[in-house]
Amino acid sequence: MIPLPVVKTVPVGIIGTGVYLPEKVLTNADLEKMVDTSDEWITTRTGIQERRIIGDNMATSDMACAAARMALKNAGVSPREIDLILVATVTPDMMFPATACLVQAQLKALHAAAFDISAGCSGFVYGLEIGSQFIKTGNYRTVLVIGAESLSRITNWHDRNTCVLFGDAAGAAVLKPVEEGFGILSVELGADGSGGDLLKLAVGGARTPITEENCHSPDRYLYMAGREVFKFAVKIMGECALKALEIAGLDRKDVDYLIPHQANIRIIEAAARRLELPMEKVFVNVQKYGNTSAASIPVALHEAVVEGKIKKGDKIVLVGFGAGLTWGASVIKWAV
Ligand code: ACO
Repeated sequence: MIPLPVVKTVPVGIIGTGVYLPEKVLTNADLEKMVDTSDEWITTRTGIQERRIIGDNMATSDMACAAARMALKNAGVSPREIDLILVATVTPDMMFPATACLVQAQLKALHAAAFDISAGCSGFVYGLEIGSQFIKTGNYRTVLVIGAESLSRITNWHDRNTCVLFGDAAGAAVLKPVEEGFGILSVELGADGSGGDLLKLAVGGARTPITEENCHSPDRYLYMAGREVFKFAVKIMGECALKALEIAGLDRKDVDYLIPHQANIRIIEAAARRLELPMEKVFVNVQKYGNTSAASIPVALHEAVVEGKIKKGDKIVLVGFGAGLTWGASVIKWAV
């Protein structure tokens, strides 16, 4: 075997974050009027109390741009400096062009390449790894990673099994080279496509195009086998976070703060138990926004930063799972 050369890589970190949260709030009480459910069921089974719904005149790229502008401002970076824009989403504005290209145009990021990532709720962590690789090797200096979702547009509002769970939002992060010893210490990604049928939108792609017959079928909307996804999530969140810590040469005792994907409070608590972390060290906002898929981790990260929960030098773990099935975790030594 030819030995791989040892390459000196540049440390990469997040230097600014931003969010966009739609104004419209849909509460559990509102949902009680729409389907056979109750605030009590939703709160005890999921922890969700309300979620945000995108305005009629907006799409995923608009929310992504708003979050990106905030992240760029917080990072002190101009759109002209961006080399690459990555948008993680399962709800792109359209099949093509990529939502990332629409964002590139709106931001006037004239020097940026742009493409989308479809990795479900793990998309933002996938984006961190893709973006950081370009900077590590010296190819790019500045990458904008966005997670943005308009899940309300693919939700079946007659299906109580799913419609109570999801919300709309966008979160963004700016990646740049950082001080030696800081930034992204490790990323662990994975996928198991054999579980793809557990969480999917079957109609509208090349296998089952939209026809007159299926255009009103429930298959036009997000489908989820909730119980199976729940079991998978509880197992993978802990495993994947521990693997990322191992790659970073760290132990669970080293973790200062956990930013998990916000799908369900019971899944978050299970991950915290596996990492032996008290809930004070775990960020939770699922009660306010529900599951916003790829937007969930960057929105939680931004709120944790704004609330002063994370300071320079803290070792934080981001961890998520989602459609694909996919999973991803990253250990970051906060650099700013
Ligand atoms: N209101 C009242 N009853 C309900 C509701 C509701 N909104 N939804 C389901 N029920 C009923 C079910 O019909 C079922 O009734 P039955 O026993 O008579 O059939 C009963 O409640 C219990 O259903 P379970 O599925 O066992 O409930 P569970 O405790 O598993 O909670 C939930 C369901 C919340 C969906 C859970 O399984 C879950 O969180 N799964 C993971 C979801 C997730 O995290 N997805 C992430 C990926 S999303 C992405 O990538 C886009």
